[in-house]
Amino acid sequence: MNLAVIGSGGREHSICYKLKQSKRLKKLICIPGNAGTESLAKNINIDISDFNSVFETIRNYEIDIVIVGPEQPLVDGIVDFLSEKNVKVFGPDKFASQLEGSKVFMKDLCKKNNIPTAKFGSFDDLNGALDFLNKNKMPIVVKADGLASGKGVTICKSIEEAKIKIIEILNGKYKSSRKVVLEEFLNGEEISYFSIVDGNCYKFFGSAQDHKKVGEGDTGPNTGGMGAYSPSNLLDVKLDEKIKKKIINPTLKAMKNLGHPYRGFLYAGLMISKGEPYLIEYNIRMGDPECQVLMMRLKTDLLEIIDLATKDKLNDFEIEWNEDNCMTIVLCANGYPGNHIKNSEIEKLASADQDNNKQIFHAGTYKKNNKIFSSGGRVLNITSLGKTLVEARDRCLLNLKKIDWNDGFYRKDIGWRALKK
Ligand code: AMP
Ligand code: GLY
Repeated sequence: MNLAVIGSGGREHSICYKLKQSKRLKKLICIPGNAGTESLAKNINIDISDFNSVFETIRNYEIDIVIVGPEQPLVDGIVDFLSEKNVKVFGPDKFASQLEGSKVFMKDLCKKNNIPTAKFGSFDDLNGALDFLNKNKMPIVVKADGLASGKGVTICKSIEEAKIKIIEILNGKYKSSRKVVLEEFLNGEEISYFSIVDGNCYKFFGSAQDHKKVGEGDTGPNTGGMGAYSPSNLLDVKLDEKIKKKIINPTLKAMKNLGHPYRGFLYAGLMISKGEPYLIEYNIRMGDPECQVLMMRLKTDLLEIIDLATKDKLNDFEIEWNEDNCMTIVLCANGYPGNHIKNSEIEKLASADQDNNKQIFHAGTYKKNNKIFSSGGRVLNITSLGKTLVEARDRCLLNLKKIDWNDGFYRKDIGWRALKK
């Protein structure tokens, strides 16, 4: 089969890595890809928001199935666009993509279907928002309604701070929407919970723990994710049952009732508070960097899984996972998540070890004259399996020392909660 992966991050590199292991794979293209995917797939450097060009490419390369990595093209309706042209594409349609594309849509769906989530209000005017602030306790969580690359959320300790953030959002700081969502602050531990969904059923697709804050000890501003490990040590059989019963099942049923059955990867960002799961957010795709650790642990052929999912035949199929722990540590460009260094050569990359247990997934990189340069804020994902989380971490740290890139930084404490236990 011929497959296309859309995207250019570490998530897409790890998906290509896994697809490449399939005996059924003939051709693999990545649109646009990065310096890492280049060694596994043919990179096609076109603008992924230009759906016509994407379609032309898919036709030219005789692609059988398209996998969409990032949220933006999904929210913009790439699945509807390609499906109308009879291209098989794995992901939710534009309507269902509102689960991530609009926090107001997601929160209203929770409310209507009794899905546990933080108490909230949504507003498009300052007075309504201020009224909500005055009636609720601090801290309060201020969120932009639309997509904001993981940067539209602030936990505010005072009314004054919340007011500043609300005004920014109402004034259009995030181009995707001017609405604001205010939420009660939930205490607890987070878990990223993944499912793969076809038209008839869904299967658990792994758990992980991300680290969103830029600084060690979970301090500083939010990022796209600084590192992750899998499995999450919070998830046991009892909690898994609760998550399915209280969150995933009612969500999928609601989407069916709305006439848009969900298809694709579904990532539930959950807060576990006193043993109970609360939905913080839905993402309509795999997580980044969570995907990287899950692809290392996945034993089953990914191409086979995706092929069956696009045929609504996941039901009788068993997905197997490696019992080992996996960790990924994100090597970022200095300055991230603010203005960061770009076009800096990463010289010692070749000295890092890579085998079945250790992989360096590329995120913001490109190749020029056979040298690797940084382009994005998150640059490389140093990823290792281990019998224990400590072993996985130590292998990552060893590789990071070998790479020794002066213009980069990383969190040395990824996994600290689990390691403390
Ligand atoms: P979101 O983009 O909605 O996932 O929010 C980003 C991050 O903000 C989450 O991963 C949490 O760490 C934090 N967060 C969001 N909502 C809440 C909440 N209601 N209570 C506590 N923390 C939250
Ligand atoms: N790791 C967070 C995300 O993918 O949204």
